[in-house]
Amino acid sequence: MANLLVTGGAGFIGANFVQYWAKQYPQDRIVVLDALTYAGNLASLQPVSDHEQYRFVRGDIVDQDAVAALLREEQIDTIVHFAAESHVDRSISGPAAFIDTNIVGTHNLLQAARSVWLDSDSAPMSHRFHHVSTDEVYGSLGPTDPGFNESTPYAPSSPYSASKAASDHLVRAYHHTYGLQVSTSNCSNNYGPYQFPEKLIPLMIVNALDGKSLPVYGDGSNIRDWLYVEDHVRGIDLVIKKGTVGETYNIGGNEEHSNLDIVKTLCATIDAVFSDNSELAERFPHAPSVGGSATASLITMVKDRPGHDWRYAIDASRIENELGFTPSHDFDSGLRRTVTWMLENEAWWRAILDDSYRDWIEDQYEQR
Ligand code: NAD
Ligand code: DAU
Repeated sequence: MANLLVTGGAGFIGANFVQYWAKQYPQDRIVVLDALTYAGNLASLQPVSDHEQYRFVRGDIVDQDAVAALLREEQIDTIVHFAAESHVDRSISGPAAFIDTNIVGTHNLLQAARSVWLDSDSAPMSHRFHHVSTDEVYGSLGPTDPGFNESTPYAPSSPYSASKAASDHLVRAYHHTYGLQVSTSNCSNNYGPYQFPEKLIPLMIVNALDGKSLPVYGDGSNIRDWLYVEDHVRGIDLVIKKGTVGETYNIGGNEEHSNLDIVKTLCATIDAVFSDNSELAERFPHAPSVGGSATASLITMVKDRPGHDWRYAIDASRIENELGFTPSHDFDSGLRRTVTWMLENEAWWRAILDDSYRDWIEDQYEQR
């Protein structure tokens, strides 16, 4: 039995992780620590709200004393660290929050873990600090470059990726210098249920359903390696349970696609679901299919993101060979599942679009 602290558990990947872990390991205690920034949403944790071993704590990872007190109170032995500012465009318009949470926050979390796990009077307890990071720390690839492996030199290029790179180095330094039992995973682009509709795939789906333009940056040729979020959380589970302490594991889907191809595939998927289900026309009267147009007519090429990395690709052979990881979902099936989830969970994303989720969250939080 383990006692987990999941930072950022009300965000996209964190909430998927918490739901997965509660199902997979029902005896384990799961304490979620989340500041509920714009990206944190308690509605994403509704499926586990009745789970006996679950507790939600609203708090900031920058607050080292509060984190240390929580680690002691809950006798936490495993930290799974998702909390971050995660959106590249926001890091370009406002980098300071990325430095605060991703660098200072991660450092304060490490300090709290060190003080409770290594510096207390009692003998050091068995523990694990798992740090969730990104492939963006490795920079951008050319068309024929091999995918990033765990030895690829760091070359981050946005304030977001630079802040994540700094956090990765700090995590490793705490292992090397103080003996903190850490592991790190660097993953490619995730998609799936509960993703905030500012990221490419959910943004395109909600805009398409509402008949709004689908903004593709630059010429749309930029490539990402896509992984369905449930596969990512399974990969993290493997690293926590079977990975070597102090090591890093790259996780990817082996699914490289250009942005324009993705948006076109999404448009075709949405056209197909509308032609199969006549009820959708009533629910989404502004969708192009309703007026007989193709969803792709909404695609609009817009000004490029400054410093836009051209290609990311992951060489996942280490986690495959050493821990037996393979993704369960290919991109086509993952994308269809995502569109279906968005159609079945309109209330979840509509509340974000009209901002009512913030009032709901404050209300829910007050009731705890
Ligand atoms: P997200 O933006 O959806 O969620 C981040 C969560 O962290 C939110 O719930 C937010 O409220 C919380 N948070 C932010 N600042 C905090 C603070 N100071 N204290 C406590 N909580 C705070 O992010 P995500 O997409 O779920 O990403 C989770 C992690 O995975 C991040 O570390 C990100 O770098 C990494 N990652 C993301 C992807 C991806 O494709 N989304 C891929 C690889 C790695
Ligand atoms: O690679 C992993 C990273 O993937 C994570 O570490 C980040 O947290 C996550 O946000 C994601 O970063 P990206 O910048 O790749 O994701 P985003 O969804 O913002 O953009 C994906 C691609 O789509 C990118 O090339 C920019 C492009 N794009 C994005 C948006 C929001 C568009 O063309 N139009 C858009 O409106």
